[in-house]
Amino acid sequence: MNDKEMDLNNIVDEVILLARTTGAYLASEQRSLQKQEIELKGTRNYVTYIDKEAERRLVKGLRAILPESAFLTEEETVTFEPRDYSWIIDPLDGTTNYVHGDSPYSVSIALMHETKVILGVVFDPVADQLFVATGNGAATLNGEPLGVSRQESLTNAYIGFGIPYSLDSRGETILVNAMKQFRNCSFRIKGSAALEICYVAAGISDAYFHSGLSPWDVAAGAFILECAGGRCSDFSGGDHYLFGKEMVASNGKLHETLMQHIITAE
Ligand code: IPD
Ligand code: CA
Ligand code: CA
Repeated sequence: MNDKEMDLNNIVDEVILLARTTGAYLASEQRSLQKQEIELKGTRNYVTYIDKEAERRLVKGLRAILPESAFLTEEETVTFEPRDYSWIIDPLDGTTNYVHGDSPYSVSIALMHETKVILGVVFDPVADQLFVATGNGAATLNGEPLGVSRQESLTNAYIGFGIPYSLDSRGETILVNAMKQFRNCSFRIKGSAALEICYVAAGISDAYFHSGLSPWDVAAGAFILECAGGRCSDFSGGDHYLFGKEMVASNGKLHETLMQHIITAE
């Protein structure tokens, strides 16, 4: 075991506790959220004081765990400054579900060392589902090892996707391609990218795709999926999915078929 792995083992329980505490805060605030407390960043793109407060709490807690670290966060309650270790966090992934009193939604926390993600934690406080992966161990759901599905064809596949806040023509073509498969496979929009990628890691769904996602939507989930034996790529099949705003996540076996029929088909 090297130093990096030892450090991770030391901090992972603290990160999990923080994810659980933040998730409990989200769940309790959802019950009392008033309509006038919901703001719009753009059409159908919501934010609340809860997103921001949850982020401030996460930053404070994670900074205490790793004092020299940087933060890349959705609500920008802290300014990003390059460091060896960076946290990539979404305090509330699934805000649209959340403001409608719906679920799922999640807390998503990834730790990056230089340019590589080394830790991912995604927590759904409603379903009490905790997804965790560290580079030196298997990915788990509530402590049980995760494994991807064996689905190889689009026929009868169970596939998640999402519709980005700003839909470009590429994203639109992909959605039209998916529509052509509506009779062939089951599609689901669950509304929390971080969780939907973890569902692929858990073998619940076979694949997931989305354009226009940000690093905090995908960093933890993608790492968890890769540790569970799945595959992530951008829309060209390359590995620019963390910052490239293009995500195809799959069990690996379905990846090429999905790419051919939905992602790259004209
Ligand atoms: C959103 C969710 C949603 C996806 C959006 C994301 P937010 O994150 O992950 O599933 O379709 O593109 O922005 O805004 O709820 O943190
Ligand atoms: Ca998000
Ligand atoms: Ca968010």
